[in-house]
Amino acid sequence: MAETALLSAFNISKSYAGVHALSSATFDLRSGEVHALVGENGAGKSTLIKIFTGAVLNDGGEISLNGERITENSPALSKARGIAAIYQQPALFPELTVAENIALGQELNGTLSKVNWKERRRIAKELLDRVGAKIDTETTAGELSMPQQQLVEIARALGSNAKVLIFDEPTASLSEEDTQNLFRVIRELRVQGVGMVYISHRLEELPAIADRVTVLRDGLTIETREMADVSSEQLIRLMVGRDLSAVFPKRTVELGEPIFELKNFGSRSAGIRNINLSVRAGEIVGVAGLIGAGRTELAKTIFGLEEPDEGEILLRGKPIKIGHPSEAIDYGIAYLPEDRRKHGVVLDFPISSNITLASLKKLSSRFGLNFGKEREIAAEYTRRLGVKTPAIYNAVSTLSGGNQQKVALSRWLMTQPSVLILDEPTQGIDVGAKAEIHELMVELAGQGVAILMISSELPEVLGMSDRVAVMHGGTIVKIFDRADATQDGILAVALGH
Ligand SMILES: Nc1ncnc2c1ncn2[C@@H]1O[C@H](COP(=O)(O)OP(=O)(O)OP(=O)(O)O)[C@@H](O)[C@H]1O
Ligand SMILES: [Mg+2]
Repeated sequence: MAETALLSAFNISKSYAGVHALSSATFDLRSGEVHALVGENGAGKSTLIKIFTGAVLNDGGEISLNGERITENSPALSKARGIAAIYQQPALFPELTVAENIALGQELNGTLSKVNWKERRRIAKELLDRVGAKIDTETTAGELSMPQQQLVEIARALGSNAKVLIFDEPTASLSEEDTQNLFRVIRELRVQGVGMVYISHRLEELPAIADRVTVLRDGLTIETREMADVSSEQLIRLMVGRDLSAVFPKRTVELGEPIFELKNFGSRSAGIRNINLSVRAGEIVGVAGLIGAGRTELAKTIFGLEEPDEGEILLRGKPIKIGHPSEAIDYGIAYLPEDRRKHGVVLDFPISSNITLASLKKLSSRFGLNFGKEREIAAEYTRRLGVKTPAIYNAVSTLSGGNQQKVALSRWLMTQPSVLILDEPTQGIDVGAKAEIHELMVELAGQGVAILMISSELPEVLGMSDRVAVMHGGTIVKIFDRADATQDGILAVALGH
């Protein structure tokens, strides 16, 4: 007989108001295993996780822990059973110290009854050592970088005796270095017998970390395989149900005049300085660099979210001043922010209005807003990007994470900008939609849009860009032509060599 699974789900179903998030999901996790869970946006991955953690209750099917059927579940019960989830956005209390955050995980469990500061710090230190994190236990969590907060969360989970750790897209916004560090921790925990569920859209990272992989499609488990026995092409075919070449559709577009230029541009408050860059009509300029190099700050300063205090912005050769995002939009500059969950969508609004929000002026006439047109355009974008929803007037909050991102992207694409700034445009987006977004970028370039694309995925940068600007320490240190850009070359510059 096969060994008893640590955690298993059999034939799970779950509907939300008539939408089948899961129709028959089956999954099992062994101790000391990393089991990857993959599937397109809206396939039901997060829903399955929420059923494990008790955040959501299943309609049908059963889950078991150590062969014992779980009949009653809630976040507190699940936690007490040793199941913990780590999300892309860390969930620490920012104003509490690291030690307090870690202790909270245990005290809520009743493990520690009285506040014993010395003991708290000692335990916190021990747990942080287990995840190889050199973090002072007295730092307030809010001061830590995102990857550090993630490690504290893992330490906290271990402190409450987690046997099952679930990672929902943990590396989506991690740098290469932080990803490798997280992998080291995961491998260490595997040796310690922890079972881990690992969700990611970065398929290329799976061979390095996963033992097995399960593919979900439309709420259904398609297959579970040994990771070593499945190629990335096979995996993609299982995910999308058809062949798909995940290659970059880059086509050479005749470049026009410089549309957008930065001259000695900088902002002390945003930590960027002396930026010189121009983007021509039809050109895609990739912006590479490590986290903290100033890439997002540059985008924000251009868009009027931070105040520039040196240099100038030229639009078609004429200096312009942007004091507020609404002015940037009036100039035809669009910006897809990195943190879509915070800034990219209005969760309570319908999908259709979210898409058309930035284009209201175009859709309005003196007779008011043209709702028919709004619906038509929104429908076109949701179809092209494959936003999975039964109706475009549903609230964005009902969409899966990746589908929310597609909505945020649609909004800016449809403003028909002359300058488009994209910050990590395909982060958290499934392979099929990724290809579609790249195709849309090429189309826009073909129409003469100047595109600035910030991305941490080097294959994307190399595949899509005409030129690659590499940032380090708040400024652009080198600009590569497409022909000269290589992964190693970009990395060396990004690291400051
Ligand atoms: N609260 C909700 N109300 C209505 N529908 C929902 C709700 N939560 C999820 N859904 C739907 O359930 C389906 C599965 O969503 P889920 O979040 O599990 O997908 P996912 O595989 O995690 O996708 P992603 O890769 O984009 O994160 C989606 O179609 C989504 O729209
Ligand atoms: Mg999800």
